[in-house]
Amino acid sequence: MRPAVARTRAELADLLSARRAAGERVALVPTMGALHPGHASLMTVAREAVAAGGPAGGPLVVSIFVNPLQFGPGEDLDRYPRTFDADLEVCARAGVDVVFAPSVDEVYPGGLPQVTVHPGPLGDVLEGRTRPGHFAGVLTVVAKLFGLVRPDVAVFGQKDYQQLVLIARMAADLCLGVEVLGAETRREDDGLALSSRNVYLDPAQRRDAVALGRALRAAGEAGAARGGPAALD
Ligand code: PAF
Repeated sequence: MRPAVARTRAELADLLSARRAAGERVALVPTMGALHPGHASLMTVAREAVAAGGPAGGPLVVSIFVNPLQFGPGEDLDRYPRTFDADLEVCARAGVDVVFAPSVDEVYPGGLPQVTVHPGPLGDVLEGRTRPGHFAGVLTVVAKLFGLVRPDVAVFGQKDYQQLVLIARMAADLCLGVEVLGAETRREDDGLALSSRNVYLDPAQRRDAVALGRALRAAGEAGAARGGPAALD
C-alpha cells in the first residue's frame, strides 16, 4: 500500500495524533530522498524497533527533505537527485505509513533559523574540517524533524558514521527523548557503499572509491591485528 504523504506540519500531526494517542510508538527515518536499498534497510530496522508497540507495530515515518542548511557554497544542493515518485515506491515496498515531504518554507518559515544546533568539537574534525557548517545544518534539521514528528526511535545509517555519532550525542545531551539507532551499511557487490551520490561518479572515480574503501578496510584490519591503530604509525 502507498504511504500517506504529508506536505505540512498540520497534515503530519493529523496523520499521527490518533496513533500516538493509542499509545503506539512512532519510528522515524530521516532522508533526503533518492532512496535506494540502503535506505530500505534503515526502514526495516525502524519497523522492527517499533514492532514491540502492538500487533501491527507503531507508525513508520520517512521524511524526505533536501536540507539547504547543510550544503555549503558550491556544493550540490541544486543538482542533488530528486526522485520523489520512485521514492514513494521504495517506501510502499518497505511498509512505510507516512512520508513527510515538506517544502523549504514549511521547515524554515520566515527564512533560515537564527538559533541552530552547534555540534561541538566533533563537528570540526574529519568531514567537518572540509565542510564548515555542515554538521550544524544536519543537527538543526534533525532536531526540527524530531520536534515535528516526535518519534520514539529514529534510525540513521552507519555509512555516515560521524553524523550518526553527533545525532546520538545531540539526543543525549539535549534530552530529546528519542532513541537513536545506527543501521549497518549496505554495499554493492564490489564493496562500494550504497549512496544517493554514487550517480555522480564516472567509471574511474567509482574504481577509486572502491580502492579507497578496500585500503581503509585493510588498514583497519592490520591495525586491529597489531593491537590498535597506533601500531600503524
Ligand atoms: O543523511 C542524510 O540523508 C541527511 O544528512 C539527514 C540526516 C536526512 C539530514 O538532512
